[in-house]
Amino acid sequence: MCGIIGYLGNHEATPLLLDGLKSLEYRGYDSAGIAVLDRTSGLTSTTKSESKVALLTARLQDCMPKGRLGIGHTRWATHGKPSLVNAHPHTDCGGRIVVVHNGIIENFRELRDELVSRGHIFVSETDSEVIPHLIEDASGEDLLTAVRGALKRITGAYALGIMSRDEPDLLIGARMNAPLVLGMCQDEFFLASDITAVIPHTKKVLILGEGEIVAVTPMGPEVTTLDGAPVAPKIIHVDWDVSQAQKGGFSHFMLKEIHEAPDAVANALRGRLLPDGNVNLQGCDLTDADLRGFQNVLLLGMGTSMHAALVGEHVIEDWAGIPAQAADASEFRYRRPTIGPETLTVVLTQSGETADTIVGLRQAKALGSYTMAVTNVVASTAARDSDAALYLNAGPEIGVASSKTFVSHVVNLYLLAARLASAHGRMPIERKQELSQALRELPEGLRAVLGREAEIADLARRYARFRNFLFVGRGINHAIALEGALKLKEISYVHAEGTSAGALKHGPIALLDQDFPVVAICTDGATRDKMASNVHEVAARGAPVLALVTQGEHHLDDVTTDRIEIPACDEAAVAILNTVVLQLFAYHVAVELGRDVDQPRNLAKSVTVE
Ligand code: AGP
Repeated sequence: MCGIIGYLGNHEATPLLLDGLKSLEYRGYDSAGIAVLDRTSGLTSTTKSESKVALLTARLQDCMPKGRLGIGHTRWATHGKPSLVNAHPHTDCGGRIVVVHNGIIENFRELRDELVSRGHIFVSETDSEVIPHLIEDASGEDLLTAVRGALKRITGAYALGIMSRDEPDLLIGARMNAPLVLGMCQDEFFLASDITAVIPHTKKVLILGEGEIVAVTPMGPEVTTLDGAPVAPKIIHVDWDVSQAQKGGFSHFMLKEIHEAPDAVANALRGRLLPDGNVNLQGCDLTDADLRGFQNVLLLGMGTSMHAALVGEHVIEDWAGIPAQAADASEFRYRRPTIGPETLTVVLTQSGETADTIVGLRQAKALGSYTMAVTNVVASTAARDSDAALYLNAGPEIGVASSKTFVSHVVNLYLLAARLASAHGRMPIERKQELSQALRELPEGLRAVLGREAEIADLARRYARFRNFLFVGRGINHAIALEGALKLKEISYVHAEGTSAGALKHGPIALLDQDFPVVAICTDGATRDKMASNVHEVAARGAPVLALVTQGEHHLDDVTTDRIEIPACDEAAVAILNTVVLQLFAYHVAVELGRDVDQPRNLAKSVTVE
């Protein structure tokens, strides 16, 4: 949702805060702001922008506030419209206490009414502003004690950066249901919503736990609970390097990340796909007996991760022969699911912080299900709250639209399905070897597809004039069609729907005419002939058809308008090649239409509210 940053050290805080905000901007970019405390004058200087960090930087160009303690924020609006007055940081009445917040304070109305009745004056519409006022209300106490008191009164989610004019050597961070880390250098400290903002400075990172507060002084950090009980800091060494978090010569992060698909696959397989074709799910392997104990599998996710879940549903049922069900996590939490210890719940989340998914995970756990998070972010909430974590190891994904992490999610689900199938004795050795070879060859196949980007870009430019698209597929490629449509709509703002090809004649076909193209996934697979019939049906209605076909196949040449040839390989691998083609197609349509590809309107990379 929002991104927060804090700095305490020996250097000027302003440029460091701005750099941090820039790298956190994918979390939200409705407004931005920083506050810096100048210990000589004892004054805090606050600067805000009603839009992106670039405007904030421009405003600070000629007059950088001095100070070595500061906090900053980049906002994705929830309570109160995007505006200067709602931009963080927020302060108490006296302007002494300054706070940046990511999350939602659920009881802010009651707290605000109570504080107003005691004379506090609020200037914004945000829920966040109650926090500095609650802290102020405990005047007379030191900052840390006052913060603890305030946080005990709050319900909801928060990651906070807090400082006070009265304690110029103290930076406080706190978290509850929202991520927060502290990058630790020799004599300086970076508080941040995630690791991306601290890796340019350090690889030593303190991960703050739920309900914990970190008090950072020049002596170092001290972690405690809300009650003040000391907590042993959880410090990890991050092996992402700075260049991984930069664009690497591509015009957008998303394009770079699409091109990282071969590496994402290789990283997913590394150490997990054994030379004999067996799978070892490092870090979260269960015994064969444990796996046989699961009678069904529930897969939870949102958006792109939900589409990966649909692929998982398909292959787990197909390969392992056990019932699998993908569910939209935001709906799952309001159902009365009949799951228990016999259910393996697999939670798919790139960020590991998606609120809908985390709530679903906690609900499944509460019902006794064994939970496994498949996530890209080490020590994220999903990883920590699950019984086991399977890491994507795909490196940071900055583009708001998921690309390489979808690919990695799908590969990890293939590995999980194969592992379950082995444990249940349902995958013959020949199939195991066939699949393992297809997965090993996948990075090469992906490089071949990526090498044809110019051809795909050319098609995308031609199709960019259409205002509506229908994406269709069958089997695994039904999920890929849904994902292709989501990718197109989220970055190009062009209306796109995905549907199973079989469902076409039950309704969607009525939409079609010469201005409503169909993107049809027709690569070889169990339903090849049925898919071909569906293409004939849409072509007969005059709709332009852009078909993904297996290289060398010409059975649809007469009825399709354009074709993209996909190398022939195992159906599971082909689904991933198809995905990358559709990602490139969406990307180039968006570029042709002049969209903000990496930061599409109204979206945020990590959606940490329900
Ligand atoms: C990705 O392109 C989307 N913007 C979005 O649907 C995303 O997949 C969803 O919000 C879930 O995120 P997560 O994987 O971090 O949980």
